[in-house]
Amino acid sequence: MTAQTLFIDGTWEAAADGGTRDIECPADRTLVGTVSEASRGDTERAIAAARRAFDDGRWSSVPAPDRGAFLLRVAGALRERKAEFARAESLDTGKRLVESEIDIDDITACFEYFGRAAAQDAGRLVDAGSDTVISRVQYEPVGVCGMITPWNYPLLQAAWKMAPALAAGCSFVLKPAELTPHTAILMMQVFDDLGLPAGVANLVTGAGPGAGAPLSEHRDIDMVSFTGGLVTGKVIAAAAAATVKKVALELGGKNPNVIFADADFDAAVDNALNGAFVHSGQVCSAGARIVVQDSIAEKFTDALVARAEQIRLGGPFDDNAETGPLISAAHRDKVDAYIRKGVAEGARLRCGGTFGTGISGDSDLDAGYYYTPTILDQVRGGMSVVVDEAFGPVVTIETFTDEEDAVAIANDTDYGLAGAVWSQDAGKAQRVANRLRHGTIWINDYHPYLPQAEWGGFGHSGVGRELGPTGLDEYREAKHVYQNIAPAVTGWFDNNSQESI
Ligand code: NAI
Ligand code: MG
Repeated sequence: MTAQTLFIDGTWEAAADGGTRDIECPADRTLVGTVSEASRGDTERAIAAARRAFDDGRWSSVPAPDRGAFLLRVAGALRERKAEFARAESLDTGKRLVESEIDIDDITACFEYFGRAAAQDAGRLVDAGSDTVISRVQYEPVGVCGMITPWNYPLLQAAWKMAPALAAGCSFVLKPAELTPHTAILMMQVFDDLGLPAGVANLVTGAGPGAGAPLSEHRDIDMVSFTGGLVTGKVIAAAAAATVKKVALELGGKNPNVIFADADFDAAVDNALNGAFVHSGQVCSAGARIVVQDSIAEKFTDALVARAEQIRLGGPFDDNAETGPLISAAHRDKVDAYIRKGVAEGARLRCGGTFGTGISGDSDLDAGYYYTPTILDQVRGGMSVVVDEAFGPVVTIETFTDEEDAVAIANDTDYGLAGAVWSQDAGKAQRVANRLRHGTIWINDYHPYLPQAEWGGFGHSGVGRELGPTGLDEYREAKHVYQNIAPAVTGWFDNNSQESI
């Protein structure tokens, strides 16, 4: 039977042209499943369904407390089906099962946060400066949303969009990354089982240019929210301009992890390792640039190399594994080329830089897209490895002399998603945090985030914020309603006639 993984207007459908795609597990290239490959016409049908659902109010006019209660039921279902969701995420991405379990917990927390937030803030009264005017600002759903998401945290990135959109009363079409569609399919089943009206949540599985592009182009889409690479983000923003859509972009980063000599050394080394190599560095906020004070740079780098060389690679269900494969052969080759280019530009390879049979003859790892954790030092600002996002297990080491120098280096990037500062001098850490031009700053930590705190980037890292109150506001329009309770003739255009008589 042909795969039926398009969820359109409450019905599971095959692609109109019968197109399918095989999904493989990047840990061993085994077949995970076969899904429908949507093309433009399929996505246009999904957009039409979402438009109808929005316009007739079947969700947009449901009271906000009831929308919130629905999201809390979604959270309950995720908790019940956690094992199934986590397994699906691990098979698609190759990431360790324990990491997928954390992802599902985080997704559950996201639905809970927006479930509670849905009815908290309907708008505000405005003092119009008059006894005879009632003025209020009320929040309304932005409309039909297109959501385009990446493969590194497939359902998490989608949840950061779906949960606030549903809380706000929007309808949507989701297009997950073509390599990792399975948890999005499970999510639509949950929405359907829990009675979300047909057409409110729609799913198209398939590639960007075919299945995804209409979400940035179609006039019936009011907002497009994208998480992924900078190049694709620019294409989507440009396409969205033609119909003046609201645009939200999360485009990754080149995130500095600034370590002062007075930092807790062991904690800084350990967290630098996490920052750089969790999920093999396929993390938009990865601490890919270590910026360390020159007096401890050598000791720090030696310690980091010693730890990185010990990281055990392996598949989702390998209990000894500490991190998994890259997402695809194409991505692995891109990461490898990036490292080669850095070395050609003068960087020194301290560890890693190998894959396939190059990984110490480990034949178990041959079938997957593994890449060894890589550290490059002797880099300079302007080198491609310092400027461009690798999205792989690669970290560069830069050194600084003093606080001023640290800030200058850490801000020397077009991106601005995240960064960290390590120091036991609380005042210094705060001063540096205040001067870093990045959307999230960790002090003496790396990577934690909270659903109740905004996430997003300065500069080329994006537009808008996800999570927190702002993450809900992204899916709402503010409408000002001004009522004159003592209507009267203004006389504005009467001067002429009155005076001439
Ligand atoms: P991508 O940015 O091309 O893909 C992200 C999503 O956009 C996918 O769903 C894809 O199908 C869709 N897409 C692609 N072209 C499209 C188009 N013309 N119209 C509509 N949708 C489109 O990511 P890719 O190529 O897999 O990775 C490229 C680089 O992006 C990575 O090497 C990494 O540097 C960065 N990246 C950043 C992520 C983040 O979390 N910010 C996540 C994934 C990748
Ligand atoms: Mg920006």
